[in-house]
Amino acid sequence: MIARLTLGIETSCDDTSVALVAEDGTVRALVSATKDLDHEPYGGIVPEIASRNHSILLLPLIDECLRKGQVSWPQISGIAVTNRPGLIGALIVGVVTAKSLSLIYKTPFLGVNHLEGHLVAPFLRDEEYAPPAGFTYPYVALAISGGHTSLYYVQGLGQYQLLGGTRDDAAGEAFDKFAKMLGLGFPGGVRLDKLAQSGNPSAYNFPRSMINDDNLEMSFSGLKSAGHRLVEELRTKLTPEEFQQNIPDLCASFQEAIVDVLLAKLECATRRLQCRKVVLTGGVSANSRLRARALEWTQKKSYSLVIPPLRYCTDNAAMIAYLGSLRMNQLHEQSDASLGPRTQSLPTDFSAFLP
Ligand code: KG4
Ligand code: ZN
Repeated sequence: MIARLTLGIETSCDDTSVALVAEDGTVRALVSATKDLDHEPYGGIVPEIASRNHSILLLPLIDECLRKGQVSWPQISGIAVTNRPGLIGALIVGVVTAKSLSLIYKTPFLGVNHLEGHLVAPFLRDEEYAPPAGFTYPYVALAISGGHTSLYYVQGLGQYQLLGGTRDDAAGEAFDKFAKMLGLGFPGGVRLDKLAQSGNPSAYNFPRSMINDDNLEMSFSGLKSAGHRLVEELRTKLTPEEFQQNIPDLCASFQEAIVDVLLAKLECATRRLQCRKVVLTGGVSANSRLRARALEWTQKKSYSLVIPPLRYCTDNAAMIAYLGSLRMNQLHEQSDASLGPRTQSLPTDFSAFLP
């Protein structure tokens, strides 16, 4: 049987990504470009720069993806594009491109929700990764990235309850801001993780806001402010050399506070829902301490834990192509020329938690 392939386009933030995915989640090709260095001097993502990069990179990446997958247009049965939520200028590039390709090649297209893409990412597969045998809905998913930190109960395709999430900063944003305060550059989450490996997680006591509240809400802005105050204080008290020596301890302690909160909320969510399956997704799920502690916790509880490989956890078009394929083929959805970009999710994308 010839696999029906969906072309996915992702341009919601700073990553430009294109993929070809079959109906069963097999990734035929995935090509992405991230120009972190263009944003680094500004210490954060500059929307205008992101949009400009997408418009330069997207068409060549589509060509490269088709070449890599050894696919020509007649073999593509649908086009999926992230149209929400995200940076408006960045989304426009993807949406306009998808619409144009749909017209030229007479191929149906669908605008999909980026966060929903993260939620179905564990089902992707390739030569090196497949979801654990028998893995299926329902599961509790924690989507953690530079822009999002949210807990969902995923009951099936299109059935998602938003359980809770951060009220202010995302966990990745907190990592990046603290890394910047320490002079580690942007985005500094990965560098912070590396340095933390040789640090003492109990050296400094950072706040763990809302950790004991019996709800699934989180807050990381107090932690960020505490980090800022401590760094200022240490910079005046210590010599530059002494400060440098303290960086691993600062990283490990800051990281521990975030991981403690995330695990406490996961524990609360799985208990409330009586759910024994946990998925971590989004760029922060690469964090080595979070992975180790989540594994330890799930093993102790005999829960199953799925963390898709990094290429499917960070922003990528494979999850978008797969989600579009599911929705187009199973739910018979299709967008029309009126599709536009949206900075926020639609109210119907996720339902509220019904305890
Ligand atoms: O999902 P992602 O690639 O992009 C979006 O933000 O949508 O996530 C990027 C975020 C950044 O904040 C980055 O610093 C963080 O994930 N990150 C990490 C690690 N790797 C990436 N944070 C902590 N530890 C890591 N190892
Ligand atoms: Zn994302």
